[in-house]
Amino acid sequence: MFIAGNWKMNGTIEQARTLARQLANQLPTGAPTTALFPPAPHLSAVLAEVAESPIFVGGQDCSPHVQGAHTGDISAGMLADIGARGVIIGHSERRTNHGETDAEIHAKVSAAMRTGIGVILCVGETREQREAGEAEAVVRAQLAAGLPDPLSGNAVTVAYEPVWAIGTGKVATRDDISTMHRMIRAWLRAHQPPLAETFILYGGSVKAANADDVFAADEVGGALVGGASLKADDFLGIITAAMNA
Ligand code: 13P
Repeated sequence: MFIAGNWKMNGTIEQARTLARQLANQLPTGAPTTALFPPAPHLSAVLAEVAESPIFVGGQDCSPHVQGAHTGDISAGMLADIGARGVIIGHSERRTNHGETDAEIHAKVSAAMRTGIGVILCVGETREQREAGEAEAVVRAQLAAGLPDPLSGNAVTVAYEPVWAIGTGKVATRDDISTMHRMIRAWLRAHQPPLAETFILYGGSVKAANADDVFAADEVGGALVGGASLKADDFLGIITAAMNA
């Protein structure tokens, strides 16, 4: 299992330090792989706090470019250079708020892979797309367009995050998660053999109270957690649920 906390654009540097310290100190022995994705200005502080723990740290986005005149952007190489080991790419908030296209996401995944850091590629349908019966086709298209072909074997984890479940408290049903995750697994086996057995995370309103149910769905290899990753007890509750799954 792999449990990732996406802190999004939340908190002060002191809150980031405190949360990272609490998690580093309280992470249970035998915990699944655990990763934190703080806001960029907090990355170095969080890296320092978890340095002695198995927790790893990543960025929430990266540029498709290596360097140059790209004001406000952060390259994958810069993330790697400060000790980040992963990056989230294609989150629905970036697709929506910044108009990120599948082609840009593809370029970002390629850029991250060239630096050797791990990627969490986010996919997921909107409410309208699900109601129109297009959920699986949308996710298949996002996978096909977002992943470089052929993949060179770096670590890419896929996170299925139905847009309508993010931050809404409406977690997808176990059946819906199972159906989508089985489809993603089959797609990866057919089209990206190096990723045939990679973790497929579920994201969208995961909490300690529903984590058991989420982890019981087919082909769920962990969770990408937003709101519930901002409090140590809540996030540790999800980690404990993963250990018991
Ligand atoms: P919530 O857990 O707050 O619904 O956010 C999920 C998410 O977007 C993680 O990337």
